[in-house]
Amino acid sequence: MLRTVRPDDRAAIGAYCADPEVTRYLPFPALDDDGLTTRMDRLVAGTAPSTTGEILALAVEHDGTLVGDLMLRLAAAHSPDSSPSIAELGWVFAPSYAGRGFATEAATALIDLAFTHYPLHRLMAQLDPRNLASSRLCERLGMTLEAHTREDYAERGGGWSDTAVYGLLRREWESRDSGS
Ligand SMILES: CC(C)(COP(=O)(O)OP(=O)(O)OC[C@H]1O[C@@H](n2cnc3c(N)ncnc32)[C@H](O)[C@@H]1OP(=O)(O)O)[C@@H](O)C(=O)NCCC(=O)NCCS
Repeated sequence: MLRTVRPDDRAAIGAYCADPEVTRYLPFPALDDDGLTTRMDRLVAGTAPSTTGEILALAVEHDGTLVGDLMLRLAAAHSPDSSPSIAELGWVFAPSYAGRGFATEAATALIDLAFTHYPLHRLMAQLDPRNLASSRLCERLGMTLEAHTREDYAERGGGWSDTAVYGLLRREWESRDSGS
């Protein structure tokens, strides 16, 4: 089940976001109490994005347990009327629920929601190419690896990492079940 994030999700989200293995490729470090407060404030507020930079945050429940969270962030507004035409997807799941297809099922539903609810032309995901689980998820979602940029992301603790960009166009989503 997908639903918006509530303040009482703090313990469940805090449990996996405090794990350095989970946050290894995320843009934030393993969360302490203050970091979790900042993240929860952002997730709980993410219910109805309408302009660039705003997010929709969804909790993913399985049998009444929160197993992960998803984010849709309205991004660059290159459309003629300046409405957001691109959105970025993000996902974080509890390791104890990995490898069962929950992220695939939930992200598929979020993609359907995004293209149905917003006049988006394109969805994208950006990730560290070493994040193979996330790359495989993008591929299962029918996204295309469009770019691999070199050393464009300042790593925590120093150094630079690459970025892989995956994309899914509206017309590809519309023809997703045609078998082509
Ligand atoms: C990225 C992330 C969400 C992927 O999680 P995941 O468990 O691999 O993804 P799913 O829940 O969709 O499970 C898919 C896996 O289960 C298997 N699986 C089992 N049953 C399945 C089913 N019914 N449907 C789809 N896959 C299934 C798949 O084969 C796949 O395994 P594989 O990748 O070894 O081939 C997870 O690794 C994560 O949260 N990482 C930490 C946060 C992070 O890095 N986020 C991304 C930042 S860009």
